[in-house]
Amino acid sequence: MWKTIEVDTSVGPVGAIISGVDLSEELDEEVVSEIHQAWLKHHIVFFRDQDLTPPQQAAFGELFGELDTYPFMKSVDSHPNVIPIIKEPETKINFGGAWHTDSSYKEVPPKATLLYAIEVPQNGGDTLFANATAAYQDLSDGMKSTFGEMKGVFTPKMVHGSGGSYDKKEMKKELGPSYGGNEEFAESEVEHPLMRTHGETGNKSIYCSKPHTHRIKGWSHEESHSIFSFLTKHLTQEKYVTQFKWEKGSLAMWDNRCVFHNALNDYPGERRHMHRVTIKGERPI
Ligand code: OGA
Ligand code: MN
Repeated sequence: MWKTIEVDTSVGPVGAIISGVDLSEELDEEVVSEIHQAWLKHHIVFFRDQDLTPPQQAAFGELFGELDTYPFMKSVDSHPNVIPIIKEPETKINFGGAWHTDSSYKEVPPKATLLYAIEVPQNGGDTLFANATAAYQDLSDGMKSTFGEMKGVFTPKMVHGSGGSYDKKEMKKELGPSYGGNEEFAESEVEHPLMRTHGETGNKSIYCSKPHTHRIKGWSHEESHSIFSFLTKHLTQEKYVTQFKWEKGSLAMWDNRCVFHNALNDYPGERRHMHRVTIKGERPI
């Protein structure tokens, strides 16, 4: 099926490892098209043994769409769309340490995130990825039709707002000086469907999440979160989840429209350093 790349799906139930490509080079159109097709099919593509500067990582991302910015973190000096994700040995909280899909509180959330490993702990620090399309498909018809029609109120406030889980002072210490800002946006709310339809494949996926969805429209927070707890538990069953072991030079590009992820925080005393790029998406429908 693939002419220019090798695609190995043995990594787990979602995602595929692509080999035979050096992402620092200029890629042929056919290679880019095959990576794009493999990405739509498997939801995440992983690459090993890459060597990328921030501008090179950004240039690879740009092959798939316009680059996005992240509201709560300053970029690295060498590129405005690359942000550092660093956990220092002495810190406790990690970035992305709960099941979520990226920036779903934005009016137009990014379709893709490209995370590249600069330095990884010797043990631990894996990322879990869950297939939100397969999990949606396995819901009962009753649940699909009831919640498929509903909207959720999405917001950054439960994580980044005042009193959120990324407590400002703590997190500045933990995530470093590049974290913070955008206080007003941190309290904002936007409506999106609880289940979204992928703009390119037309497939439906679970989209609401505990960190970013404050409530189902018209419901209380508590009522809503009992549903979100069920959906998260359902979505994160082993049969939908790939645990990715990072190596220095690994790059993962995931589809935020149909994949949830969770960064494991199991490497106290070790350092982990990643570079992150996001690509603009479409308004969720
Ligand atoms: C992210 C994120 C996961 C990780 O970059 O959006 O959630 O493993 N990171 O660092
Ligand atoms: Mn994330």
